[in-house]
Amino acid sequence: MDKIGCGWILLAAMAASLPAAGAERADILVADFEAADYGDWTATGEAFGPGPARGTLPHQMPVTGYLGEGLVNSYYNGDGATGTLTSPAFTIQRRCISFLIGGGKYPGEACMNLLVDGAVARTATGPNDRPGGSEQLRWHHWDVNELAGREAVIEILDRRTGGWGHINVDHIIQGDEPFAAEKQIELTARHRYLNLPVKNGAPLRRMRLLRGDETLREFDIELADGEPDFWVFIDLAPFAGQSLILWADGIPKNSKALDNVRQQDAIIGADTLYRERYRPQFHFSSRRGWNNDPNGLVYHAGEYHLFYQHNPYGWKWGNMHWGHAVSPDLVHWHELPIALYPHTFGDWCYSGSAVVDAANTAGFKTSGEDVIVAAYTSTGRGESIAYSTDRGRTFTDYAGNPVVRHTGRDPKVIWYAPGKHWVMAVYDERGDSKGVAFYTSPDLKAWAFSSRIEGYYECPEIFQLPVDGDPAEARWVLYAADGEYAIGAFDGRTFTPESGKHPFNRGNCFYASQTFSNIPAADGRRIQIAWGRTGHPDMPFNQMMNFPVALSLHTTGEGIRMFALPVAEIESLRGTAHSFEHLALQPGDPNPLAAVSGELFDIDMTFRPGPTGQVRLVARGLPIVYDAAAQTLACGDCAAPLKPEDGAIRLRVLVDRLSVEIFANNGRIYMPMRAVLDEANRSLELAATGAPATTGAPATVDAIAVYELRSAWR
Ligand code: FRU
Repeated sequence: MDKIGCGWILLAAMAASLPAAGAERADILVADFEAADYGDWTATGEAFGPGPARGTLPHQMPVTGYLGEGLVNSYYNGDGATGTLTSPAFTIQRRCISFLIGGGKYPGEACMNLLVDGAVARTATGPNDRPGGSEQLRWHHWDVNELAGREAVIEILDRRTGGWGHINVDHIIQGDEPFAAEKQIELTARHRYLNLPVKNGAPLRRMRLLRGDETLREFDIELADGEPDFWVFIDLAPFAGQSLILWADGIPKNSKALDNVRQQDAIIGADTLYRERYRPQFHFSSRRGWNNDPNGLVYHAGEYHLFYQHNPYGWKWGNMHWGHAVSPDLVHWHELPIALYPHTFGDWCYSGSAVVDAANTAGFKTSGEDVIVAAYTSTGRGESIAYSTDRGRTFTDYAGNPVVRHTGRDPKVIWYAPGKHWVMAVYDERGDSKGVAFYTSPDLKAWAFSSRIEGYYECPEIFQLPVDGDPAEARWVLYAADGEYAIGAFDGRTFTPESGKHPFNRGNCFYASQTFSNIPAADGRRIQIAWGRTGHPDMPFNQMMNFPVALSLHTTGEGIRMFALPVAEIESLRGTAHSFEHLALQPGDPNPLAAVSGELFDIDMTFRPGPTGQVRLVARGLPIVYDAAAQTLACGDCAAPLKPEDGAIRLRVLVDRLSVEIFANNGRIYMPMRAVLDEANRSLELAATGAPATTGAPATVDAIAVYELRSAWR
């Protein structure tokens, strides 16, 4: 319990066992690095720059955890630079020297030393000696009781070049106790939730929920000391009635952070849940914390399962778990308890997929219930599987994990029916070569490498689709996180492209999409959900999922292309409809949609542009513009080529609080856009601009239907 990751040891118990100090003595600040220069400290070499850094330096991962504005950061001019930074001599007058430290873990090379009589009496490093890691500074302290009264010098060294060849230090202070230390509170789980206060930007604390010596949960959290920005929660249901310990490290001496933790039957903020000001109203977002990629999309026993990359404890990416929600209709989602917890701290559950093992190939079946098998990246182990015999409510990690070891992540598993075997398409990284590797398996446990294709980055997806609805004419589609896809053939082992990669999404709010497995044959759709990269800093959650789309392949003048349209289930949210037909649009005409007012819309319109000029649909202040001469559709910073078909452009637009999803010409163009729409603006506007159409026909609107949408959150 005293061993914190990265070899740091911080013992609160030790402070308690020190001889009593008599009257409490005030801390003595050695250095806080808040000035513009290093003052009476001496810098040599380049690495420490002309003075303390103001946080993160160019090309550095975000540096966090320092106090105030300035810190020592030897990443000046990158990892290649070296140097030293030495304090003036000072007298050791207290029992501890506490400090914040981060960066490289290279004793003697990237480190901080306490020199007494010119010899190293104490030393410390940051936590990183391999790619990845974090630029977070954490509290550390040296017990210097035996050195009391001696003259000392602090020397910060950066003699290391290459990855993590730098060291970060801040706030060096002498005190009779560690400046910050482990703290814990004991509790009995009497209510469903343990609510924890979060302040965005507060230093990250490591927290654990313990039962005796057993770590039940462990995570990093920006724990609020004072007024929180919002509350997150630990679900105590699995531990009901048990005696638990909530432990945290790096808690400053006078902090009240742990006292503010609240055990309740509801999550704090439940009264306004899903009605928060910037909560998407028909897109899934998690109750609390962060989401990124959709994971494990699978339909089973009447439910669509949406698992997702989730930080349950903060607004930002981190602590990767698999969150979980289910829906009967892809529109109304019900968030369930977390599905996959990290195996150990730092061994995160990264992205992956899920299948229903109907033939029980893995032998995990224990009852009449078919088993869901999730394949995910365990960052500390490799590609792993977990299975659920209770419709996704709980998962058991397979004892033989990992099932595939390589350098990569994000396994997408499919059943290859002709060969009667499983296929794993997985992002495979070999130095600069980024691609998708294919493995095959009879039972989801034993996997054999088959082939590899170059040129794809993260989150691969592969499936077969009929062309123009004709099952006799089918193609395979392969894409990765950006959605750019190749069309080709797949024999269960090797993908052979025949065209592509073609751009898929034309917006700024799409990444790491995935499609559902196990959709009933009678439905037959290929339904995709993408991570919707939009959020708002004032909310207790961050990011969302794009609205589910059905994918299809169509023959176009340019070849076979993949189209996307929102699933028809959205119609269940439609309320009042406003329909217009045969409108001539001339520049300067009054807005035909002036009477429409609302917040959430589904708009379907077909218009015929004139030879020049623009047709503008302005959705609550956000212009969506078709330029007739350029034949482009544009919104915000995004644009896509779009030619009229049979003289017409068809637009489908979904408007929510944080996004506008645009589909053109039956899904040929898919442009999901992030947009924080002005709450006060409830208008729609339709206009033609440019030269009045004296030479050609005016733009005409064949038909426009505007549906006001209800919130999916009732
Ligand atoms: C894509 C991604 C995946 C990874 C996950 C981690 O957004 O980087 O490659 O598994 O996010 O959260």
